[in-house]
Amino acid sequence: MPGAPVEPHLFIVLGGRGDLMRRKLLPALARLILQGFLKEDCQVLGAARSPELDDGKFRALAREALAAADLFADDQIARWCDECLHYQPIGRGGTEDYRSLAARVEALERAYCLPGNRVFYLAMPPAAFPNAITGIGETRLNRGPGWTRLVIEKPFGRDLASAQELNRLIHRFFDESQIFRIDHYLGKETVQNLLVFRFANAIFESLWNRDRVESVHITVAENLGVEKRADYYEQAGALRDIVQNHLTQLLTLVAMEVPAAFEADAIRYEKVKVLRSISPIRPEDVVFGQYERAPMDDGDVPGYREEPGVAPDSTTETFVALRLEIANWRWQGVPFYLRTGKRLPRRLTQIVVTFRYPPVSLFRPFDACEIHANVLIITIQPDEGFDLSFEVKAPGQPITLLTQRLHFRYAEAFGPLPDAYETLLLDILTGDQTLFVHADEVEASWRLYTPLLEQKPPVHPYPARTWGPVAADHLLAREGRQWLNL
Ligand code: BG6
Repeated sequence: MPGAPVEPHLFIVLGGRGDLMRRKLLPALARLILQGFLKEDCQVLGAARSPELDDGKFRALAREALAAADLFADDQIARWCDECLHYQPIGRGGTEDYRSLAARVEALERAYCLPGNRVFYLAMPPAAFPNAITGIGETRLNRGPGWTRLVIEKPFGRDLASAQELNRLIHRFFDESQIFRIDHYLGKETVQNLLVFRFANAIFESLWNRDRVESVHITVAENLGVEKRADYYEQAGALRDIVQNHLTQLLTLVAMEVPAAFEADAIRYEKVKVLRSISPIRPEDVVFGQYERAPMDDGDVPGYREEPGVAPDSTTETFVALRLEIANWRWQGVPFYLRTGKRLPRRLTQIVVTFRYPPVSLFRPFDACEIHANVLIITIQPDEGFDLSFEVKAPGQPITLLTQRLHFRYAEAFGPLPDAYETLLLDILTGDQTLFVHADEVEASWRLYTPLLEQKPPVHPYPARTWGPVAADHLLAREGRQWLNL
């Protein structure tokens, strides 16, 4: 967590009645208060359509949300709820609604002697972003007496053209230095640790290239299905929901060059360079899938098309596997395999770096001496940590090789890790953009994947709670490789 103090401000959440506010933002703000990062001169204004809500009802909803996160029992939090949370209805988001919002913002700033620092957090459906940005801009809410920051949740656009259009609109009212595009994966401790792991450990950095690395696999697997989000997911699918953002962020952090400094611009510059070096993805290197009903001992798991709100003939992909290459000096020729899916056997986010075999097999004359390549496994979640496999001689004769693992587990070393939103909110409040996505990055990522959206590959069914369609296995098998499902 950064050391810079948080200045007094008004934290305005558009979509303040929604799920994100309840499940993530309120608990994260409350934890920051408990840890002393936030003071009570940080006021929160929730804004949403509902005309029937007022400050009192909004506070009651917040108390419920905080109780569900086991946070309300604390006196300090109860006081914060009663004294620092406010609500403003913005109806359908017309000009008059935003004028009323502007008047309320100014009134709160006067009442609490705030210096006019404002965070606008867009926690609303993406279709509502343009109207909200225009509303903020046209009522000059973005021109307060202090600093103003805009936070925007994913998905940022639906393809390259819509992302460019959204960037153009935002840039009419905000400078890039004020924009915080959230990808919550970047707030995960283990994702940030990728940079420390790579650039604070010279032994790995010297192996991190095409001479030593044979392939890289990155998996974001979920055991849950689409749950109650069919409205959104039917429009999105796995490519937009996970690949374009979370998976691609992991890929850029694994593949980037050493930045000139540990600061936002230097890091984001290197990430964009990776994206620009990726060769166009070939259609034969992409597999889309959709989960189907599967009988289980504990009852049938429904298929995607049977989920509430999903069209019975939906072709939305719930699984994507793809192979790509980064055509630069460090990585030319090393395949990167990316995979994500819903209703896979378990929740697992993992990066697997497989190193090359020794050039000569000294032990081949002996039986049972098959050599396995060294593999570095970086587990982002759950059970966060690192494993490095290496070959040892089993005691006794004749010579037999065994694979063993060195391992490190975060939980064993440090106990529970902070939630990604705590880290990200604190960075927003202290103005640190290192863990946020730059306009160039988001566009470079869409440039890569938009052709797959325009010419969608066939969608292969896979039984729920399996590792995806067989075609995804063939993607690797045709090159003599297989996924590691550890
Ligand atoms: C979200 C996606 O961005 O990330 C969800 O919209 C997905 O579909 C979630 O379930 C996964 O996040 P995490 O942190 O649980 O891996």
